[in-house]
Amino acid sequence: MGRKFFVGGNWKCTGTTEEVKKIVSNLNDAQVPSFDVVEVVVSPPYVFLPLVKNSLRPDFHVAAQNCWVKKGGAFTGEVSAEMLVNLGIPWVILGHSERRSLLNESNEFVGDKDLPWRSLLHKPKQLQRGYQTGLMLSWPMSPVWAIGTGKVASPAQAQEVHSELRKWLHANTSPEVAATTRIIYGGSVNGANCKELGAKPDVDGFLVGGASLKPEFIDIIKAAE
Ligand code: G3P
Repeated sequence: MGRKFFVGGNWKCTGTTEEVKKIVSNLNDAQVPSFDVVEVVVSPPYVFLPLVKNSLRPDFHVAAQNCWVKKGGAFTGEVSAEMLVNLGIPWVILGHSERRSLLNESNEFVGDKDLPWRSLLHKPKQLQRGYQTGLMLSWPMSPVWAIGTGKVASPAQAQEVHSELRKWLHANTSPEVAATTRIIYGGSVNGANCKELGAKPDVDGFLVGGASLKPEFIDIIKAAE
């Protein structure tokens, strides 16, 4: 099934204006496969979204690392989906395991964000509501033991979980959603392990943390070739 390979860079809660400008400059100078081969989306902290959105090369896109409900209002400290759309941000990460562990976000809370556009969901439950096939799933249990630890799931482990998830999608949503939903792996992906992981049939890409802030992020993008 021709699912375009996806490489996401989750910058998490890091960076200064100077560091972000340097990362963007390195990304802009990189020789990478065309957009037809690989879709690259980087996700800076909220405060750097306008800077990155306005300076990043046009063939790479930008995601927010989270968002509150669709519309704004009396939600002190939050950023609404409406604001992201207004900024021209087409992607958002929802339900990241760090938000579940640190901020107790539940499946229901994440599901109720019910965004009418592209998001990287960490839980497939929401798909039962007939979501469009524009969604992306990042390994729903996000092998928490692999995040930020340097311990990466083996290609066989990743393929096993992704394959089971695709079967779940087929049985609980539709064959079309199952066939077109990109299921990406996240957890200590780096320049050394990305090629073998990415070669698995149900690994449609990566959500990269630490390595996305380093030059090796370009190697990970090239693994799509
Ligand atoms: O969003 C995926 C991320 O949590 C993985 O982090 O540093 O293990 O690549 P890292």
